[in-house]
Amino acid sequence: MTVSYKELGFVNTKEMFANAMKEGYAVPAYNFNNMEQLQAIVTACVESGSPVIVQVSSGARKYANATMLRWMARGAVEMMKDIGKPVPIALHLDHGDSFELCKDCIDSGFSSVMIDGSHLPYEENIALTKKVVEYAHANDVTVEAELGVLAGIEDEVSAEHHTYTDPAQVEDFVKRTGCDSLAISIGTSHGAYKFKVKPGESVPPLRFDILEEVSNRLPGFPIVLHGASSVDQKAVATINQYGGKLDNAVGIPEDQLRKAAKSAVCKINVDSDGRLVMTAAVRKVFVTKPEEFDPRKYLGPARTDLIAMYKEKNQSVLGSANRVK
Ligand code: 13P
Repeated sequence: MTVSYKELGFVNTKEMFANAMKEGYAVPAYNFNNMEQLQAIVTACVESGSPVIVQVSSGARKYANATMLRWMARGAVEMMKDIGKPVPIALHLDHGDSFELCKDCIDSGFSSVMIDGSHLPYEENIALTKKVVEYAHANDVTVEAELGVLAGIEDEVSAEHHTYTDPAQVEDFVKRTGCDSLAISIGTSHGAYKFKVKPGESVPPLRFDILEEVSNRLPGFPIVLHGASSVDQKAVATINQYGGKLDNAVGIPEDQLRKAAKSAVCKINVDSDGRLVMTAAVRKVFVTKPEEFDPRKYLGPARTDLIAMYKEKNQSVLGSANRVK
């Protein structure tokens, strides 16, 4: 049985991105695998008046069960009504790797899908993306595509080296595929180890020249930034203080993300920052209160810290807070 996202209370990304482009901010796209993460995302976005994209990777679907995740997302729509003024929410497939997976998500209530053909030869990326776009658009679902390859590891997506997006390809790609937004590679990467730098050394800046050229060639077209966690050093220090071992974990400096959010970048993906904040809180409870064995006593504090982190991001990095009128 197929179900339309509209019946479930989700929206596609069209209007979200149009507003973000007009007002110069980025919509947060936060990944979730479990209840506490999803509760935190929704609570933070309702409390800060930010539109939100909740996204699910194929790894998350395997971990949590596709049916369970879908119903959880539907629960999040209902939960918003209990906790305040609901904000526009999209349910998005992150890094879809096949037409079949995208179709399955569209048929089961996703309002937006990513088809990631970035590892394929150019013409094959076009053919696959176009096929997904045709099916998605027939269902009023929006499609994110990718050109250029990000380094790093995220669930099943991994690449050792990145390939910057070639701005000379973007017009042809968007015209021939009909995609609604484009993820580009300008130096961000997935995971908590984004740059190989020694402690105290600064990280290389993102390639804003590529972003500028892409947006000049695609005026008004929404650009997506993957691998955009800033890897908060306080969370890393807490993890290490309480028995963790994260050596030289570094992310994208917040001022660079602020700059990107004001440009044609309309969607900023954050997964690792949530993982780090959650791990820090859980480790702290385990070490400071070794007598606790109730999951609510360690996942609860993790959820509280997640809410604070997402709110802070919406307010002071992405600029998406207080945008829902
Ligand atoms: P981070 O690993 O930087 O959080 O990136 C997540 C992402 O891009 C999901 O697609």
